[in-house]
Amino acid sequence: MTATEVLKTEHRDIRVMLSVLENVADRLEGGEAVPHADLEAMLDFIRTFADSLHHAKEEGLLFPALERAGFPRESGPVGVMLLEHDAGRGHTRGLAEAAERLQAGDAAAARQAAGHARAYVQLLDAHIYKEDNILFEMADMHLSEEEQKWLSDEFERVADRFGHDRHEEYHDLLHTLRDRYLS
Ligand SMILES: [Fe+2]
Ligand SMILES: [Fe+2]
Repeated sequence: MTATEVLKTEHRDIRVMLSVLENVADRLEGGEAVPHADLEAMLDFIRTFADSLHHAKEEGLLFPALERAGFPRESGPVGVMLLEHDAGRGHTRGLAEAAERLQAGDAAAARQAAGHARAYVQLLDAHIYKEDNILFEMADMHLSEEEQKWLSDEFERVADRFGHDRHEEYHDLLHTLRDRYLS
């Protein structure tokens, strides 16, 4: 797989989690209880799989490669992607705080939790679309063969460091939540 194919594959997994989160937002807004452990598991997936693994590959490797190819970090599409990653982290923190308050018995926090979940879903849905259809096309077109090979090798190193068993555990978690919330 090329580097951008690896990222697109991860996007498909993240999109499954976005569907789960959308369903959770509906439930919370409808006054339904969502187990705290499930919210924790969703937050763990977002923080670890989407942010530490996926966004780290983009921010630490792909975006610098695009910079070397002449796309500045501060402005243009790379800058927008970085701002969106940060906005996503803000909603993740908001969801985590609301989940804690819900767990502590503050029923009003359900609305905040739903709001942050929904905002995260909308943000990431549009973000993934832009990366798949604009940024990655740019990368495929403008990165030299040498850079593409370097990226693939570095991605493999990141995957090794993350751990292949751990990667599988996150897939299992994703499928468990999908079956619980989307079937
Ligand atoms: Fe991204
Ligand atoms: Fe991405």
